[in-house]
Amino acid sequence: MATVLIIGSGGREHALAWGIAQSPQVDNIYVSPGNAGTAGTQKCENVALSGEAETIVFCTEKSIDLVVIGPEAPLVAGLSDALRAAGITVFGASKAAAQLEGSKAFATEFMQKHGITIPESVIATSPEAATAAIETFGGAEKSVIKADGLAGGKGVFLPDNATEAADAIAKIASGTVDGDGSRFVVQARNHGPEVSVFVLSDGQNYQIIPLASQDHKRLLAGDKGPNTGGMGVYAPLPDWMLSASQWDKIATIAQKSIQGMAADGTPYQGVLYMGLMLAEELGGDPLVIEYNARFGDPETEVIIPLLHGNGVDIYSMLYATATGTIKDFVMPATLNAAALTICLAAEGYPDSPVTGKAIAGLGDEYRDVTVFHGGTKIDSDGNIVSSGGRVLFVTGLGVNLEAASAAANAAIGDAAIHFPGMQYRPDIAHRALKP
Ligand code: GLY
Repeated sequence: MATVLIIGSGGREHALAWGIAQSPQVDNIYVSPGNAGTAGTQKCENVALSGEAETIVFCTEKSIDLVVIGPEAPLVAGLSDALRAAGITVFGASKAAAQLEGSKAFATEFMQKHGITIPESVIATSPEAATAAIETFGGAEKSVIKADGLAGGKGVFLPDNATEAADAIAKIASGTVDGDGSRFVVQARNHGPEVSVFVLSDGQNYQIIPLASQDHKRLLAGDKGPNTGGMGVYAPLPDWMLSASQWDKIATIAQKSIQGMAADGTPYQGVLYMGLMLAEELGGDPLVIEYNARFGDPETEVIIPLLHGNGVDIYSMLYATATGTIKDFVMPATLNAAALTICLAAEGYPDSPVTGKAIAGLGDEYRDVTVFHGGTKIDSDGNIVSSGGRVLFVTGLGVNLEAASAAANAAIGDAAIHFPGMQYRPDIAHRALKP
């Protein structure tokens, strides 16, 4: 029987823990630091490990068979490399490969080199050069400005006018966005629906998780309000939104990405998150908006239940990726059913979330629903309370998106799961569900 350590504390890590726990091959899962949801998941125990050295000692003492690293920060900092050097099996990109997320300039140069479709792009090394690049794309409202380094989702600016563009450039240059501020990526702005696709690669070979999902970044229904970490997601996209020929082009991007990283001597081992736009400017062809070196959050909260529901052993899938055997892993060609996740966010999110609110309704059973925790903890009285911005992720499953949406929405409200001041979007999948 296997023992697994998961690094992270969000909805993504709870979904991974839940999925791994379903495997008959696994009897113990540690989550560092975890949340109230992982603390209450079968086979799981939360631990608090800080730093590489402590993690290595823990893995040795507990005979950990697989470490799964959830968030980007430890990947970009090189935790995978340190663990692998100590002989520990890891699901997670190396520091060199995680630059695909950690540096927008690295990712841009990589895609340009390997013929992967991206928006027209300029890497600028001064505010003046960034301003000049904006002019070449026809002005602020036709440009996208990105900070080079990790920015926790706050590094991409879509200015409406020259003043907003200048503000964005000044903000990036000050170093408060990504901790550096010396490089900018300026791109021509394209338009079209965005989709998330995940590729599991063992460095040489890879398998694409066979569906696309769609996140909802804005806080409020109708895609209004400020950007967030993601207020809800659904999968799969209906055929009329994503055709077989568009999917084939996405598969080619995946192939070029994994082969390119191997050819460049930075083999990609872990999950590659391809953030894509089906660009109107390209007749609906996909282009890469961003790479991430991790599973998406909240995308994981629909993907893991769908994979599990289609017979995939999540532990085996991650272990095959981590051990160079993904070619032999049997991935279903398609995934049946649909899943839809609604994020329940704290009052004041995203700017200043109010925490410490007791959550009601978690003990009840909801038909075709799994609840994943994000920012939750157990307080000194043993109650589950909110402790972050994105508090819970309510995932509904169904034979189709309508059923998945109905299931998730039925589990939320005064007579179901709720907490004071909670914010959520009742319109997740509105594009796919429109009549
Ligand atoms: N779904 C957005 C993210 O994971 O970055």
